[in-house]
Amino acid sequence: MKHLRSIDELGLDGLNKLLQLTDHMAEINQRPVPKVPALRGRTVASLFFEDSTRTRLSFETAAKRLSADTLTFNVSTSSVNKGESLRDTVATITDMGVDAFVVRHKSVGIPWQISAWTTASIINAGDGAHQHPTQALVDCYTIREATHAQNFAGMKVTIVGDIKHSRVARSNIQAFSMLGAKVTLVAPPTLLPPDVSHWPVDVSHDLDEVLAESDVLYMLRLQSERMAQGHVPTLREYSEQYGLTQKRVLGLRSNAIVMHPGPMNRGVEMQIDPSDVKNSLIHRQVANGVSVRMAVLFELLGSGSNLAGQA
Ligand code: NCD
Repeated sequence: MKHLRSIDELGLDGLNKLLQLTDHMAEINQRPVPKVPALRGRTVASLFFEDSTRTRLSFETAAKRLSADTLTFNVSTSSVNKGESLRDTVATITDMGVDAFVVRHKSVGIPWQISAWTTASIINAGDGAHQHPTQALVDCYTIREATHAQNFAGMKVTIVGDIKHSRVARSNIQAFSMLGAKVTLVAPPTLLPPDVSHWPVDVSHDLDEVLAESDVLYMLRLQSERMAQGHVPTLREYSEQYGLTQKRVLGLRSNAIVMHPGPMNRGVEMQIDPSDVKNSLIHRQVANGVSVRMAVLFELLGSGSNLAGQA
C-alpha cells in the first residue's frame, strides 16, 4: 500500500488489515511509555489547507509515537500567501526529504493530484466533500471495539444530518457497507446530494421513524462553512427535526450507540451533552484516532521495520 486516499482504493482487505494493525497500536498506546522506534528516520509532513483540530493533532501524535519526524505546514504563515502554487509547495517540501504527506484541502481530488507531483506517500485527511478515509477507519474500529463484532452484518447504522457536504459520510457509507452494515441516511432533501440512488443506502426524512431500529446513530455537523444560504429554513427548525435531544435518546434501543466525528455544533445537531448519552462513543472516536493513524503510517512507511521494543 503506497497511498491512502479513499475507502474504495483501500478495499475490504485493506480495511480489515488496518483495523487489525490498529489493535497492536492500541496496545502500544497502553504502555507507560507509548513510543516505539518503528518509523525512526522517516518524515511525515502535514499539509492542511483547511482547519482541523483532531485529525491533524492525531496524525502528528501518531507519527511521534512511531518515532517519525514531523513537519507542520501552516498555510497562513507560508509562501502560499506570496503566491506560491500548490505544486511548487509540494515540490519544495519533497526536496527536504519527506516520506509522507497528510493532506487536507477544500477541493475534491487534490490528494490524487499531489501524488503525481511527489514520490512520497499521500494520506487524504479530507478533500472537500469527497473522502476522509482515516475517519471511517476510526469509526469502524470504534464500533468494533464497542460491539466486538468482526463484521457489521445485520447492523443498522443511521447517519443523520448534513450528508451533502460530508466527506465523513461518504467514506463511512462505503466502509460500513463493505463490512456488511445496512446504512440509512436521515436528512432534509436540501442536505442530501441530488442523486443517491447508486449509493448502498436507504433514505428517510424522519429521524423519529428510524430511531428505534438503529444500532448506531451517527450524527453529523451542519457544515455552514460549505453552504451558501438556504439549505435549512432556520437552525431552530433544523435542530428540532434532526437534532439529538434527550427525548430522542430515550427513543433509542438500550444498547444503541451514538457517534459524532467532531467538531460538534452544540445546540444544533447536539441538543444534549454527549456525557448525558449513556452509550456515546464520541470520546472513544478521538482516542482511537491516534491508534488508527499509527496503523496507517506504519502500513505505508514501515516496510522492513517491526513494532518491537521501546524507542
Ligand atoms: C470532519 C471533517 O473535517 O471532515 N471532522 C473530522 O475530521 N473529525 C467533520 C466535520 O468537519 O464536520
